[in-house]
Amino acid sequence: MPESITDLQEIFQKEMAKAGNLEGLEKLRVQYLGKKGRITTLMRSINRLPVEQRPVFGKELNKLKKYVETALEQKKKKYKQQLTATRWEKERLDLTLPGKPFHLGRKHPLNVIMEEIEEIFTSMGFIIAEGPDVELDYYNFEALNMPKDHPARDMQDSFYINPEVLLRTHTSPVQIRIMENQAPQLPVRIIAPGKVYRRDDDLTHSPMFHQVEGLVVDKGISMADLKGTLLLFLREIFGQEREIRLRPSFFPFTEPSAEVDISCIACEGQGCRICGGTGWLEILGSGMVHPRVLEIAGYDPEEVTGYAFGMGVERIAMLKYGIEDIRLFFANDLRMLSQLLAY
Ligand code: FA5
Ligand code: MG
Repeated sequence: MPESITDLQEIFQKEMAKAGNLEGLEKLRVQYLGKKGRITTLMRSINRLPVEQRPVFGKELNKLKKYVETALEQKKKKYKQQLTATRWEKERLDLTLPGKPFHLGRKHPLNVIMEEIEEIFTSMGFIIAEGPDVELDYYNFEALNMPKDHPARDMQDSFYINPEVLLRTHTSPVQIRIMENQAPQLPVRIIAPGKVYRRDDDLTHSPMFHQVEGLVVDKGISMADLKGTLLLFLREIFGQEREIRLRPSFFPFTEPSAEVDISCIACEGQGCRICGGTGWLEILGSGMVHPRVLEIAGYDPEEVTGYAFGMGVERIAMLKYGIEDIRLFFANDLRMLSQLLAY
């Protein structure tokens, strides 16, 4: 019998050499040490041996069992270490490699300009007001002194939703909404930034664009207040060397009305291609609030006066960034947008 234990050990050693991986080891363990395993079976057969052989056989078998257990345990450890090592190799991180560039989202240049405009005016005590994009004909035209048959309505070809409702063609209806709410309290001092819509589409006109409206109503407000405020604002936006001039114009809701020009930012007033040789650039429309408009909105034109202005945000951005096609703002070409953001 002891010979067969030695044989068994040799067989085990050969099988062990072929085990290959953790799974193979587990199979071997069951095969030798499991409930019906070879060693277990031999253990059970001891009491069938003659009494005098039992101690020697038992001792040898126990030695084999220990040997198998230890051998399996050691091999198992070795396989596990190998597995961990290959996994480390596979998942290894080289922390010295340069990082992948990560693209941050940025504000659209138009929003940057709008926020700049808002900041300048709020620092002068203006409050930001809002009105709806989908507006009543009443606020967009009628209350602004443009009755249904008024020729000025042709100036702003409109997107109508039904005969009473349209997409607002300018931010001026916010003037009426704010005054209606606040009258007769003084002063009114607001700007109203937002989107407006017109049936326009060319190099300098877009069907949707942005305006910033301004409105000040109080006792004793004059054209000089308008001019002073706009000079301050335009110098903040375009540089302290800018001059401005007011040119007589016409809007049904202001009287008198003026268009405001700044000295050309490209040629400093010498005359160039950008300003069409005049040395001046048209920037916005403005005027003293028409007495009829004050009255319609609930203020007494005998008691108070006011000024208003409205500017195109894209126009300001185009001048500031030297862009000749307004559609570039809305094409969402990141090459163009990121170039602007370098300013
Ligand atoms: C108005 O819209 C008046 N509401 C402005 C105003 C307000 C006058 C308060 C007096 C008192 P106008 O139609 O000129 O005016 O438009 C103002 C500016 O909007 C223009 O100077 C121009 O810069 C811009 N603008 C007009 N149409 C377009 C368009 N289709 N695309 C881009 N900008 C435009
Ligand atoms: Mg105009």
